[in-house]
Parts: sequence; structure tokens; C-alpha cells
Amino acid sequence: MIRDTTSLQVERLRVGYHRRTVIRDLTLAPFHSGEITALIGPNATGKTTLLRALAGLQPAKGALYLGGDNLLSLPGSAHAARVTYMPQSLPPRVALTVFEATLSALKVAPGARQPAQQSHIQVMETLQRLGIDDLAHRPLTELSGGQRQLASLAQSVVREPTVLLLDEPTSALDLNYQFRVMNLVRALVRERGIIAVVVLHDIALASRWCDRVVVLSDGAVVADGPPATAVTADTLAQVYGVRARVLGDAQDDALQVIVEDVLDTGDATGQPSR
Ligand SMILES: Nc1ncnc2c1ncn2[C@@H]1O[C@H](COP(=O)(O)OP(=O)(O)O)[C@@H](O)[C@H]1O
Ligand SMILES: [Mg+2]
Repeated sequence: MIRDTTSLQVERLRVGYHRRTVIRDLTLAPFHSGEITALIGPNATGKTTLLRALAGLQPAKGALYLGGDNLLSLPGSAHAARVTYMPQSLPPRVALTVFEATLSALKVAPGARQPAQQSHIQVMETLQRLGIDDLAHRPLTELSGGQRQLASLAQSVVREPTVLLLDEPTSALDLNYQFRVMNLVRALVRERGIIAVVVLHDIALASRWCDRVVVLSDGAVVADGPPATAVTADTLAQVYGVRARVLGDAQDDALQVIVEDVLDTGDATGQPSR
């Protein structure tokens, strides 16, 4: 099979913990360079597990092709050089400043040998683009939750990865910074041809900023496509157990979801599937 060198292909991926399989034989259409995909789905459905497997942080079976290589058969450092993952939980409160933390993320990026001055410029440019350059010399321990989330994002994007995986990057952010973050991520993805997969709970945000939406439920794909195709009332009923109206402009894919009721005819337990 000819493999596209500018896409990430997930084939028959299987990921789990001990004896419990969370993602079972998952095959997805390729993720393309320059595109952002939103990964949405209920709590505990396997979104974080999938992202961690894509990042090489969770053992997985199957194949992850990127540029002709199966990432799962590369050494961990080679995998990590191409894929960065920003975790859902905030980073530990280490006694570094925002500048130092971002610089150390850049330094551990394999192959990132460059003069110190160049690294400093790159760090400051990243902080400026995120609108947190004024926090550069503040310790991480003194930041608010939202500020730490932005500092964590700076550490992920400064490494200029081929694949950028963000796990709920806007969960602690106000409307202003939600917009800034998604706008910046999309600009970087377009400029540098990054492949981005972003877990989001907010469907309006997902449809507004992402090219594609993958809806995951119980470790399997329920819908996958442009926002207006993937996010439908039927999908929301099946996946979240809600009766909802989806309003939107199919032209620009910006969708609004109005939940009208909770369905009590989910699975055998009478609950929406979890
Ligand atoms: N470290 C772990 N050990 C065992 N089970 C886990 C671990 N992390 C997550 N799980 C389980 O895997 C399932 C998927 O979790 P997760 O990927 O975090 O879901 P999501 O990100 O969609 O909320 C859940 O049932 C969760 O309890
Ligand atoms: Mg999660």
C-alpha cells in the first residue's frame, strides 16, 4: 500500500489497561497535514487513551503510519520527536518560570540543537503569540489554572512537532483565551503543515475551528467528517443520550447545539452509554 507521507494513519489500533481493552481495532481515515481534527465524545469513552497511544505514551497494538514509518515500531524517542501531547491535567507546580519551562521543553525536543540566543527568541515568540509574554518570568507555581494551561500549551507548540495532540486545551480558559488558543493553533497548523488532533467538549468550538470532527463512543467511531456532517441530532442522541437541535451554517460549519431533553432510553441500564 502506498502511504501518504504527509498524513497520520491509524490502522487497527488496540489500546487498553491490564486486561481491559478501551480502543478495539480502530481504523481511521488519514489525518492530513495542515488540518485540525476535533475528537469529541462522552466522558470515559477513550479520548485521552487514544491520544496517549498516538503520542507513544500508552502501549498499543496495530499501526500508526507517519511519513512511511510505523511509529509503533520506532524507538520511543523517535516517536516523541514527531508527536507532542499536551495532557488534560495541568502540569505539576514545578519551581520554574514560564520562560524556563518553555525553554526546557524546547531543549528536550530531539534534534533541537541551536544557539542559545535562537532558542530564547523562539521561546519569546511562542509566548507572545499565546499572549502570555508578560508572564515569562513568573513562576508556574504562582499562575492561575488558565495561565498554567497556556504555559503548558507553549511547551507543546514551541517544539514545532509534526503531530500536535491537545487534550482539552481550552477547559480552563475564558472566552477570550479560548478564541486566542484555537486561533493560534489553527494558524500554526496551517503555516507549518502540522497534523493536529484536539479533544474538545464544546461542540460549537469544535465546529468553529476544526476541519473535521471524529465522534468517539465506547472506544469506537460513531461519526467522522466535516463538522456539519459528523455532528447531527441523531449522533448526539446516540452518543450523549440527549435530544438536541443542531443549528448551523453548512457553509462555514459553525454549529450551535441546543439540548432540549435527556433521553432515558439509552442502553440496558437506562443511562446514556458511557
Ligand atoms: N491508567 C488507567 N488505568 C486503568 N484504566 C484507565 C486508566 N486511564 C483511563 N482508564 C479507563 O479507560 C477508559 C477511558 O478513559 P479515558 O481515555 O481517560 O476517557 P476520556 O478521555 O474519553 O474521558 C475509562 O473507562 C477509564 O476509567
Ligand atoms: Mg480525557
